[in-house]
Amino acid sequence: MHTQRRTSKSGVIERYREFLPVTGATPVVSLGEGNTPVLFCLRLGKRVGRAVFVKNEGVNPTGSFKDRGMTVAVSKAIERGAKALICASTGNTSASAAAYAARAGISCVVILPAGKIATGKLLQAFAYGAKVVAIDGNFDDALRLVRELGQGGDFAIVNSINPDRIAGQKTAAFEIIDALGDAPDFHLLPVGNAGNITAYWAGYREYHALGKSTKLPVMIGFQAAGAAPIFYNRVVEKPETVASAIRIGNPASWKQARAAITESRGAIDIVSDEEILAAQTWLAQHEGIFVEPASAASIAGLFKCCDSKEAAYSFQKIPEKSRIVCTVTGHGLKDPDVIIQQVKELKSVPATIDSVRRAIGP
Ligand code: F0G
Repeated sequence: MHTQRRTSKSGVIERYREFLPVTGATPVVSLGEGNTPVLFCLRLGKRVGRAVFVKNEGVNPTGSFKDRGMTVAVSKAIERGAKALICASTGNTSASAAAYAARAGISCVVILPAGKIATGKLLQAFAYGAKVVAIDGNFDDALRLVRELGQGGDFAIVNSINPDRIAGQKTAAFEIIDALGDAPDFHLLPVGNAGNITAYWAGYREYHALGKSTKLPVMIGFQAAGAAPIFYNRVVEKPETVASAIRIGNPASWKQARAAITESRGAIDIVSDEEILAAQTWLAQHEGIFVEPASAASIAGLFKCCDSKEAAYSFQKIPEKSRIVCTVTGHGLKDPDVIIQQVKELKSVPATIDSVRRAIGP
């Protein structure tokens, strides 16, 4: 007779409970997030002459890293008796908040910059049943409104200004150390509202303090050139980039991002929209990892560190054995708007061997 085996711990809270602000009394709202692969990327490594790993956060339940923080933020909100969630978003936070609200059985309001949300993400907010409000303004305006609406006590704010979000997101750093046996030498990631770089740095420091790693990585963040307030050290009133997820001119965790960069002796740099889209295509076609444009900023950034004299941090002289981790933050299917052109150009051929062979080409 078969005995039933206990299933392995699923979800960020169950796996990392002792590091999170939860108790036995916290109702766990989870969709089985986290435990995402740290992929050794041979071709990418060959391209840049270093050992490169990609932490693929696009395979979380709603397709982005936001789910790690959302499980903690929503569980804590429910514990405190919240009846409704609210967030501002460039798309992924709203998709995640909407899903976890549905899972918890409470309502969710998402405030979005009109016309600036990638198709897949907007679709998710509707699919999970959120109340969607589009404003004539950008993400920074939306976050300002959310802060104000959150003050009344009617809504629990689940943006990364909520410390429970950061607590959940730091588990990605734990997973990297657990997978590699130590911290990497360099960690590259896209930066928008700057919650994620803050969370990773917190996670790396926490594990290091506990002796679970021998070193701390150098943190290198990448902003889109048209939306780079931290790089230019000034608020960008009208941020513009094809990477709509990081189209942010006044990041909420600006100071914490600065601290992470300074303390880790890292850097903040910019990548152009062209570099972002080229990196997105490269990663999909050489590693089979399809990410949204914002996520490709870390790969575009890796190329810049390795190739360009203008890089804020050059990899040309780093030890050959250095291990580099790039986080890719969201799934490519969320943001099909650029690639859809190629799909539209597809023409059908007659269903005969000859015409199919001709269509395949040489
Ligand atoms: N990559 C993706 C795919 C994102 O959606 C975001 C942020 C980032 C990177 C940047 O992370 O803000 O922690 O620095 N998206 C937020 C949202 C702003 O509303 O979904 P960050």
